[in-house]
Amino acid sequence: MGSSILSLLGTAAFRSRGWQPCNVSSTVATILAVFALNYVILFAYFDVVYPSFISPLRHIPRPKWWRARIIYRRFTKTQGEALSDLFYDTPNNGILAVRELTTTRLLVTAPSLLADLLVHRSYDFTKAENTRNFLREIWETGSSSLRETNTSFSKALLCTDEIESAAGLHGGNPEITTDMADWANKVTLDIIGIAGLGRDFNVLQNGHDQIADDYEAIFEPSVEKILYILLAAWFSFPMVRMLPWKMNDLFRSRTTSLRATCKQLIESKMEGIRKQEQDNFDILSVLIQTDNFSVEEQSDQLLTFLAAGHDTTAPALTWSCYLLAVDQARQETLRREIQAALAGAQLGPDNADIGSILERLPFLNAVLNETLRLYPSVPVTIRVAIRDTRLGEQYIPQGTEILVSPWVINRSKHVWGASAETFKPERWIENGQSDKASSNYDFMTFLHGPRSCIGQNFAKAELRCLLAAMALRFSWTLDMDEAEVVPAGAITIKPAKGLRLRLKTVQN
Ligand code: HEM
Repeated sequence: MGSSILSLLGTAAFRSRGWQPCNVSSTVATILAVFALNYVILFAYFDVVYPSFISPLRHIPRPKWWRARIIYRRFTKTQGEALSDLFYDTPNNGILAVRELTTTRLLVTAPSLLADLLVHRSYDFTKAENTRNFLREIWETGSSSLRETNTSFSKALLCTDEIESAAGLHGGNPEITTDMADWANKVTLDIIGIAGLGRDFNVLQNGHDQIADDYEAIFEPSVEKILYILLAAWFSFPMVRMLPWKMNDLFRSRTTSLRATCKQLIESKMEGIRKQEQDNFDILSVLIQTDNFSVEEQSDQLLTFLAAGHDTTAPALTWSCYLLAVDQARQETLRREIQAALAGAQLGPDNADIGSILERLPFLNAVLNETLRLYPSVPVTIRVAIRDTRLGEQYIPQGTEILVSPWVINRSKHVWGASAETFKPERWIENGQSDKASSNYDFMTFLHGPRSCIGQNFAKAELRCLLAAMALRFSWTLDMDEAEVVPAGAITIKPAKGLRLRLKTVQN
């Protein structure tokens, strides 16, 4: 369509000006004018005429002045926060049309529509890549919860030891300051390394690992990185890749390095399996033993798994430490609950009961649920309709992109009341139990349905261990201005400037 308009207009323009072959500047001007006109016509059709008068989605409410606002807000706020503002500013029945640079996406918040999207019609809506069913199957077959908890708790204790010794607390320093976000990254990578690969990266003690460095370089939030990811989402990855931009070099070199490391891990695991050296219950061993995938495919799945398994729990631990740093009373309540529950227990790695003791602690669970509600590690995700379908009564044409935002839903005042934005773990506790049941679709941190998070139970058990070990060993306050603790990130959200804490050892 574009090229036919172009050639038609071009011929007319040339004729009307009395075309002179050697008049270069007027030729360039004409071409530019034709391009501009062409763009204006396309813009008018696709951005005004089609969405307002022709599209089957035209009756869905959309924010006024949406375009400028969403673009502006995406640079000053996270996507979750921007969508939340639009959701409150625009009267709607749980479905909103949000225009971004090149496309209209639907934001769905009504429970019945979410049920259609994620459960009843989940096979009409997909993600770009789908490795999940396979990962789900082997994760469920290959992992043992007992071993996970032991790993998590002993790594959690090691993490507190390392924080102490790195800061020289044993050298007589009564207080230490440290970046908790950094420790959270290290300890969660060590844990997922063991559970997923059967390999201890030991980033906690080595202080550094190629995999950890690469993930950090890719996921640490910066304005430039967010812009890069936004442009790739608005236009396309291949297009953004062509730009002479140092972000391209960064992503290319870091993903190449990650792939090379994964390949090495796979090869050494294959060798171990051949020599029958290991117990082979981790996810990578099962992946290899199914013999269905090339090394490249295995390495893709491993990359997804490692990122999904630690770049989510690390921010969750960080945010829980932040919320307790600014709420000393609740931090103390949590500590007392854990001290009482573990009094006399042997805290070594061989104590198989720790996981089940922690699982029963109402306040610990409530603090973690409340953290995951306020700071869902994946604040926004997307589905695409792969065929013409419906959400409730609304017809959805093939190709429509649907935004699901745990951030918007978890903080909705309609669901959680006036205190929706406030840290209030008690809301999860009823009759002394931490199992407040609300509608499935009120708490969306792990999503729901066949494509929800496969690591949900693992993540919760891991976080219980990590937070319990922190609260047993330290008391802490913020060592930075609270106004500086703001969420940032395009895929997962972390505090933009890390989380500096001031810690004191607790005498148990
Ligand atoms: C607080 C911790 C976690 C949160 C909040 C979380 C949340 C999520 C969410 C929302 C999704 C769905 C994303 C989408 O459909 O677009 C997801 C997918 C996934 N999660 Fe988790 N997750 C967490 C921890 C974990 C852990 C510990 C593991 C591994 C043991 C894990 C493995 C996965 C995998 C493999 C996927 C599928 C990724 C894909 O198909 O692209 N997650 N998670």
